[in-house]
Amino acid sequence: MNQFGGDWTKIKIEILVEYAKAYLHIMKDRKFYKLMYFDGFAGSGFIVKDNKIDVDITVGAARRIIEINDPRPFDSYYFVEKDQANFRLLEENTKERFPEKKIHAICEDCNKKIVDMANFLRNPKNKNFRTLAYIDPCGMQVEWRAVESLRGLPIDMWVLVPTGLGVNRLLKRNGQISDAWLDRLEVFLGLTREEIEKNFYRKIETLFPDITYIQKEEDAIEKSAKLYRDRLKEVFKFVSKPYELKNSSNSIMYHLFLTSNNETAVKIGNDIVKKFNN
Ligand SMILES: C[S@@+](CC[C@H](N)C(=O)[O-])C[C@H]1O[C@@H](n2cnc3c(N)ncnc32)[C@H](O)[C@@H]1O
Repeated sequence: MNQFGGDWTKIKIEILVEYAKAYLHIMKDRKFYKLMYFDGFAGSGFIVKDNKIDVDITVGAARRIIEINDPRPFDSYYFVEKDQANFRLLEENTKERFPEKKIHAICEDCNKKIVDMANFLRNPKNKNFRTLAYIDPCGMQVEWRAVESLRGLPIDMWVLVPTGLGVNRLLKRNGQISDAWLDRLEVFLGLTREEIEKNFYRKIETLFPDITYIQKEEDAIEKSAKLYRDRLKEVFKFVSKPYELKNSSNSIMYHLFLTSNNETAVKIGNDIVKKFNN
């Protein structure tokens, strides 16, 4: 079972479920659409918050979404989970538990399956598919090229971006970032090293014109959230304001965005985000 999380673990699921219900309500009478739910980081089906004494078990997003029947269910569900042990539990908690529903589960890397989904939706044979996607990684696993493959497709996608926990931690204060970390940032943001440096560092002049050094910008977490949102806007017409997931010291760890090519979708997403941010 997945072991992680604070209260925001539950809140992000509540945000997703509230949005899914609104989405299904709007789609209720549009019978010509085939509604697919795609979960790229599906987990085991349950989340265990391990405080050693108090064990707090939360039903994961996958199960919560499958259990929605009112206003209507999705027509199909596609779950991706890379970890073998989680995947076995996921199958038990989804496919085996809900045999009446059309559920596919696969043990794979999410990036590959996002690109496969994009190819599937781009096929004219599948033009009546509409997708709600949930991309809930724990780290920087999502590759920009996978997100980019979704351009122009009828997908509403909630995506969790590890701004504080991921990007900000890799951006060393003095700019001395290892090649491995730079590679990670490049793949995650879809930017070159030079572009990353330009976005997050400023040049400091010294008394000597030929000696300069670079220093990290103070608000790198907010900057990375804005940068990622701008990147998402290059792929989707609309991107919601973020829900900010903070740790017990009030530092932002992740930003959660809704992206869509439908303006109403993002208006609904913004209302939900506003409610939970307050
Ligand atoms: C934050 S958890 C997901 C929790 C889940 N959304 C829920 O509500 O229960 C992230 C999951 O992604 C899985 N994972 C990590 N890297 C992955 C990848 N590249 N592709 C697919 N799954 C991955 C992990 O094994 C973990 O179970």
